Amino acid sequence: MALIGCGGIAQAHWAGIQQIAKRVDVTVVVDKNPLALEAMVSETGADGFTEIGEALEMGDFDAVDIMLPHASHEFAALACFAAGKHVLLEKPIAHTLESAERILRASRDVDTTFMIAEQSQYWPDIIAARQLIDDGAIGNLISASGNFYDRVTVDSGASRPWRYDLSAAGGGVTIDGGAHWIRPLRMMMGEISEVIGVAGNHVPMMEGESWSRMLIKFENASAGVLNCQNYAHAAGPADLFRVTGTEGELLITGGREGVLTLFNSSFPKGEIIMSGVAGRKNSYGEEIKNFCEVILDGTDMAASPEFSLGELRTALALYASIKSGRWEKVW
Ligand SMILES: NC(=O)c1ccc[n+]([C@@H]2O[C@H](COP(=O)([O-])OP(=O)(O)OC[C@H]3O[C@@H](n4cnc5c(N)ncnc54)[C@H](O)[C@@H]3O)[C@@H](O)[C@H]2O)c1
Repeated sequence: MALIGCGGIAQAHWAGIQQIAKRVDVTVVVDKNPLALEAMVSETGADGFTEIGEALEMGDFDAVDIMLPHASHEFAALACFAAGKHVLLEKPIAHTLESAERILRASRDVDTTFMIAEQSQYWPDIIAARQLIDDGAIGNLISASGNFYDRVTVDSGASRPWRYDLSAAGGGVTIDGGAHWIRPLRMMMGEISEVIGVAGNHVPMMEGESWSRMLIKFENASAGVLNCQNYAHAAGPADLFRVTGTEGELLITGGREGVLTLFNSSFPKGEIIMSGVAGRKNSYGEEIKNFCEVILDGTDMAASPEFSLGELRTALALYASIKSGRWEKVW
């Protein structure tokens, strides 16, 4: 496999490959920044290239893991499809719907595997919560809420990172890290039909929104609320997710690790079902392992690329609703 982009998330993917997706052999790494490249070459022992085209021409690999700024997803994915590579692409598919659809169209014309990397698909607390909902542990679904808090730097003296640039990122906190909260809401509650919301910006060098508040209608008539918040200030603890049913609630707390507690008539004071520990951290390795097993063993993909369009569509529907002041359809 070639790791394309050796920045922040590449470190988590590389750790996941070493610990979980052990059938992956990283033979090539690519980054236009020579310092990031050099660090990854010495970490992995792989051949390094500063240009994707050069790596595709000269490198020895069957699959790629693309971890680039959102506006670069399309050119990289299309080049890799054209070279006959299996493609794992970081979320969101792209920075705009048009770009995402061009990528999806191109992926349908090739025989190789295409998957979007969304690690929350593998979070054990969310999978367990979905199972409890299916088992009727909280009755019929009424609502869900989620709080995504992401610590950021607001140092206006630093140069602007690409994710603060609208043309590179396509939006702010909702299209970016918010995706990891939209996916679990879809997994637990079912597909989102419409959203309405507000957003704002309190991070001076960021062009997109640094916070958003979104109301959600799910297709099954239940409702949701999602708060996405970049912050540099002191902040209090928040539930990660709360799912309310006619006969009980599921609560997910515990920082980023996910402690799942069930409240119903059998457990009026709450029963801890799962205490995350390594589960969420391992999810980067689990997604790469899944990609690998799809290619090597014909295993099912946990979530198709078409399904993975849902997080981008939800964020874009929020942005449309901010402009229109109305509910906007997601699909
Ligand atoms: N799943 C998650 O939890 C998670 C977390 C962070 C980022 N991401 C996603 O991962 C992707 C990358 O984000 P990041 O935070 O790692 O960004 P980053 O800025 O830390 O790393 C991106 C790297 O790509 C390199 N690069 C940029 N353009 C290039 C090009 N044309 N050719 C070669 N190298 C190039 C940069 O030099 C940089 O080292 C984005 O899609 C982002 O949304 C996912």
